[in-house]
Amino acid sequence: MYSPSAAGSADNTTAGNRAFRYEVTGLRQSSESDVSRYDIRRSGSVYFTVPYKRMNEFMRRILRLGGTIVSITPVGPGVETNPSRPLASSDSSPAPAAAPAAPAPAAKAATKTVVPVNTYKPKNPFIGKCLSNEPLVAEGGSGIVQHLIFDLKGSDLTYLEGQSIGIIPPGNDANGKPHKLRLYSIASTRHGDNLDDQTVSLCVRQLEYDSPETGERVYGVCSTHLCNLKAGDDVAITGPVGKEMLLPEDEDANIIMMGTGTGIAPFRAFLWRMFKENNPDYTFKGFAWLFFGIPYTANILYKDDLEKMAAENPDLFQLTYAISREQNNADGGKMYIQDRIKENADKLWELIQNPKTHVYMCGLKGMEPGIDEGMTAAASKFGVDWTQYRSQMKKEHRWHVETY
Ligand SMILES: Cc1cc2nc3c(=O)[nH]c(=O)nc-3n(C[C@H](O)[C@H](O)[C@H](O)COP(=O)(O)OP(=O)(O)OC[C@H]3O[C@@H](n4cnc5c(N)ncnc54)[C@H](O)[C@@H]3O)c2cc1C
Ligand SMILES: NC(=O)c1ccc[n+]([C@@H]2O[C@H](COP(=O)([O-])OP(=O)(O)OC[C@H]3O[C@@H](n4cnc5c(N)ncnc54)[C@H](OP(=O)(O)O)[C@@H]3O)[C@@H](O)[C@H]2O)c1
Repeated sequence: MYSPSAAGSADNTTAGNRAFRYEVTGLRQSSESDVSRYDIRRSGSVYFTVPYKRMNEFMRRILRLGGTIVSITPVGPGVETNPSRPLASSDSSPAPAAAPAAPAPAAKAATKTVVPVNTYKPKNPFIGKCLSNEPLVAEGGSGIVQHLIFDLKGSDLTYLEGQSIGIIPPGNDANGKPHKLRLYSIASTRHGDNLDDQTVSLCVRQLEYDSPETGERVYGVCSTHLCNLKAGDDVAITGPVGKEMLLPEDEDANIIMMGTGTGIAPFRAFLWRMFKENNPDYTFKGFAWLFFGIPYTANILYKDDLEKMAAENPDLFQLTYAISREQNNADGGKMYIQDRIKENADKLWELIQNPKTHVYMCGLKGMEPGIDEGMTAAASKFGVDWTQYRSQMKKEHRWHVETY
């Protein structure tokens, strides 16, 4: 069963009717730029007014021509423009690279799709069946991480990419009370791994640590329950929950993903929707960039699929690993994803200024300060205060964080 989604097109939205003014520097003359209709100067800023629908195509062209986008500001009905800076005119003074405009208001796609929430509550969970439970860590890797598929047949449980479900482990806690639910990010698209809208998948690491008090090995209750499930076993499911990590419906949106370890789960759902499913209702036309932090090569979850997608979609998908225990950063320390962010600061910053760009972060809570540090370094190269910019992006629903 492949039920058509209610997802709508961005073209009918307010954002779809708007235009944006780009300030660009460094465009080089070339046979390609000469035949373009752009008003290109050898130095200084050039301004272009670009309709929302053409922003990605325009950005790719500018990058190809060697230009740097200094700022993007909304123009059009209801938006004040700065009369001292005429549109589409050339300006021979050097670009104020250190002072890009404040981020543009959100170019939010209309959210027509109903987001299902709490179809099954903890008092009345759906009892699904485990269909499969496969290891994801290759030989020589660290710890146990499993890909699980659950059968949802007979339930009303539907979900969207970026949501989570709750799992209630069997048995009681130390106080004799039934265990509370634990949340897990959904790793499959709304259509499920079998494309029949009847399954949901998870990517689960078995929690294990040495007790600081006794020194004994302790195994997490729910993650151990999940990692030990056999095909045919029951699993108590609640939810779905979460609206923070939803994928925008706009097919032109740029999606920057920063994940550590099992934080890949929602990004697997995003990438499968973009590049593996041939959905009649969604054809990804933006740019996707995954920064993935893992300890060893053997810990690269879904490695073959990710690398195949990157190889098959070189213009649409970039994959950047930070392999902490095999690679070193510029200072000789462990390579973390924030180091990759610093390395790619210019390109990232250019993307982030585009109102169509969304940034997602998922995985270890400890990665948040590091990412901020990386982004602070990237933004400061352009004279921008990252903390302010981030809160503006949050208001625009372009900065999405789910860490645990
Ligand atoms: C929104 C969200 C999404 C999530 N998605 C995923 C996912 O996709 N995949 C995934 O694997 N997990 C995910 N998690 C984490 C998951 O919910 C559980 O927290 C995790 O599986 C551990 O649960 P548990 O029952 O196995 O551990 P528990 O038995 O509940 O043990 C956890 C407790 O052990 C203690 N503890 C843990 N580590 C140590 C340590 N090093 N030293 C001392 N004490 C320690 C702490 O008291 C902690 O509260 C997500 C969490 C959230 C909030
Ligand atoms: N018991 C085990 O065998 C075992 C094995 C692996 C993980 N774990 C634990 O499982 C948890 C995470 O598992 P996971 O599956 O989500 O991830 P994971 O596979 O361990 O990958 C997480 C990655 O993020 C890195 N990282 C750690 N701190 C970071 C920070 N502050 N900023 C950016 N990156 C950071 C890690 O590097 P480094 O780890 O190299 O610092 C690692 O490369 C951690 O608590 C970890 O200690 C246990």
